Amino acid sequence: MPLVEIRELSPGDLDAVLDNRKRAFGPISARDAEIWREMVTPMLPEGRYLGVFDGSRLTATARVNPYTQWWHGRPVSMGGVASVTVAPEDRGRGVGGRLMRAVIDRCAELGHAVSALYPATTPIYRGLGWEHAGAQFIATSPAEALRTLRGGHGGGDAKLRRMGPEDAGELRSVLSRVYAATRACGPLVQDERTWRLWLADEDDFCYLADDGYVIYRWSGRDIQVDNLVAGSEATARALWSLVGTASSIAESVRACVEPYDPVLWLLRERSHDEVTQTRWMLRVIDLPAAVEARGYPPGVSVDAVIEVEDPQRPANAGVWRLCVEAGTGSAERLDGTAPAAAARFTIGSMSALFAGIPAATLRRTGRLAGGSPETDSALDAAFNCSAYMIDYF
Ligand SMILES: CC(C)(COP(=O)(O)OP(=O)(O)OC[C@H]1O[C@@H](n2cnc3c(N)ncnc32)[C@H](O)[C@@H]1OP(=O)(O)O)[C@@H](O)C(=O)NCCC(=O)NCCS
Repeated sequence: MPLVEIRELSPGDLDAVLDNRKRAFGPISARDAEIWREMVTPMLPEGRYLGVFDGSRLTATARVNPYTQWWHGRPVSMGGVASVTVAPEDRGRGVGGRLMRAVIDRCAELGHAVSALYPATTPIYRGLGWEHAGAQFIATSPAEALRTLRGGHGGGDAKLRRMGPEDAGELRSVLSRVYAATRACGPLVQDERTWRLWLADEDDFCYLADDGYVIYRWSGRDIQVDNLVAGSEATARALWSLVGTASSIAESVRACVEPYDPVLWLLRERSHDEVTQTRWMLRVIDLPAAVEARGYPPGVSVDAVIEVEDPQRPANAGVWRLCVEAGTGSAERLDGTAPAAAARFTIGSMSALFAGIPAATLRRTGRLAGGSPETDSALDAAFNCSAYMIDYF
């Protein structure tokens, strides 16, 4: 491994970061580069952009975006890891692994209880405790089928208005209300300054309702819906049918949806779904904080002793009493060695469980041992969900 130093990036590093980014992800237009600079510049003094340097040469980068992720209707502080790049000539020598270890520590220093990322490749992240947890689901529907969703029993007359950057704060409140009410698992809410930037994009059409919103754009002769959230039938019908009014020009609409998105049950025909998924991974950064912040179904109770291995973050490792009662959870550290009956997790399998992956899956991949069928059932009842995101980062 070359002699390297990891440090926080500053504005003077951004040209080199952009060069690394192009070598990793392909060309970027001058306009997108400008938006990118605007988005990342405020994160620099917060220590959210890390660089690996070989002398003065930038060899690798990773960014931690400030997100709130909703888990069973409660907000959890999440570090969204993006722009992981290693210069082509430095790949395959352990630089990426070293950088990601620093990212885990940085997430903890920034107060994030969990971290999520969209992996271009799994092994580097899995080896450090991130595990496959959920997906961004993209459904393709005929525009005409959406246009005709207006009306129906719940009506289609929810009030909509155009929204712009000045609505960023209100949009965040709407999302928080809807995600709490729907007990959402997985979707994120960005900070206000990032929203303001997205809402200023002139190619996007943005509409806000009391309990929902849509952001969509043309994609060739079709329509792409980046975000659509609706807290009621009336709002779902109003927003989807608004998008569908493009049907005289657009044939189909590609949209980021929930796995159980109401639109899939509102559509008149659904003989086969065209839904693709882009998977994301989750890592628990601070076990007690993550367990405490998350929501749980109110009728479920768990009282289990578990043992967790976390070579990267010893603060998570050891024996814990995991309790869930009346919709809230806690993890209390226990001294001494684990009792023989304790369920044994790696930090990766703990992260997967947190995100709703069933205990039976973890057990049959060698990631969960000990415990009992009763404990597995109780843990499943507390954590099980189909986690999703509508935002890619
Ligand atoms: C993916 C990337 C960040 C890995 O960085 P790196 O410095 O080459 O990785 P390391 O040498 O530290 O290897 C870490 C682990 O990842 C594995 N790995 C590295 N590149 C890989 C690839 N392209 N495909 C599959 N596994 C890979 C290594 O085998 C190693 O696994 P091990 O610990 O089991 O031996 C780097 O190759 C890169 O920048 N690629 C282009 C951009 C990209 O894909 N970024 C990731 C976006 S999520």
